[in-house]
Amino acid sequence: MIYVAKPIIESEEIAAVEEVLKTGMLAEGKISRAFEKQFSDYTGVKFSTVTSNGTTALHTALEAMDIKPGDEIITSPFTFIASANTIAMIGAVPVFVDIDPETYNIDPSLIEKAINEKTKAIMPIHIFGMPADMKQIMEIAEKHDLLVIEDACQAHGAEIDGKKVGSFGDAAAFSFYATKNMMTGEGGMISTNNEEIYDNAMMIKNHGRGKKGGYSHFRIGYNFRMLDMVSALGIVQLKRLPNVVKAQRKNASEFTKIVDDIEDLIPQKELDGMKSAYHVYAPILTSDRMTRDRILEKFREHNIGARSVYALPCHKQDTYLNISDWRWAEFVHYPDYSKLNLPHSERIGDLHFQIPSHASITDGERDQIISAIYDIFQV
Ligand SMILES: Cc1ncc(COP(=O)(O)O)c(C=O)c1O
Repeated sequence: MIYVAKPIIESEEIAAVEEVLKTGMLAEGKISRAFEKQFSDYTGVKFSTVTSNGTTALHTALEAMDIKPGDEIITSPFTFIASANTIAMIGAVPVFVDIDPETYNIDPSLIEKAINEKTKAIMPIHIFGMPADMKQIMEIAEKHDLLVIEDACQAHGAEIDGKKVGSFGDAAAFSFYATKNMMTGEGGMISTNNEEIYDNAMMIKNHGRGKKGGYSHFRIGYNFRMLDMVSALGIVQLKRLPNVVKAQRKNASEFTKIVDDIEDLIPQKELDGMKSAYHVYAPILTSDRMTRDRILEKFREHNIGARSVYALPCHKQDTYLNISDWRWAEFVHYPDYSKLNLPHSERIGDLHFQIPSHASITDGERDQIISAIYDIFQV
């Protein structure tokens, strides 16, 4: 079976972790600082700091940007639920606007209509590794004096006009979950060019400790730290990242050549100047010749682990349909998410499917996927 993800764990990864284990110094320290520096250099930002995962990176960044209960954050619902949940965790309100049906990313032309006096920030998500339209988003943010936090959890190495995603907004969050472009099992990173956001994040993720460490604490914080053992793994994976992105882009371009020829399918669109990291390769179905379930079944018959990813956009999840049960609902006004009409998010949710495009698939496996596409759609 060719699965949709396969982490690269080779002798370098094992040696890097073993080396830290042998020192007995496992907790966040020097190696994490080195990882942060290398990640900042790669992403093209001034500051980065590690966290325990992408969710805690988003959560910490939002608090570090001084987002308060009741503040509204504009985002899109076709995503992993952590994007929206981190907003709700701190008592802020996710305001979902629809996606562009071609890029699956937030539609910039709908953002301004959602802005009111409570709006504090925009959270674009570079979904499946495809960069959101940061030029337009930053222009809107500037015009309305809003902060921007990029959810780059799927998009390490993606670029817009040669500039890496995660370097456009006021802050960005990355995930190193086991299936990501670079991975540490669990892990995360916050990147920013803003020293105050960085200083706040350093405190928030470490129980509000000051720069000198010790047992003096200055604000409420959490333990969202990363282990040095895990950062050591991150350093090795970061070195692999350019090749991983290259391989994923090559796989995606080979698939797109065929998908473009099939009437029933349209690939996710890469706008001019954008370079997706193709963390996920997911076209949409445009005919009702076969149901998506049947197509997924057929891929499985070819030993290919195809799947749908976000069949239910966030506003259709029980979490948001039952938001009145959430502890902040007593203090904060939430919209009635059940009344939201976001047709593109719902339609792409219904019609997309992922096929394996990760860097570990061999040329032979790529050919196997390509012939399965031919066979299933009989071109
Ligand atoms: C778009 C998006 N946001 C946030 C997250 C949360 O990251 P993590 O799973 O590392 O907490 C993920 C990861 O799965 C993601 O894909």
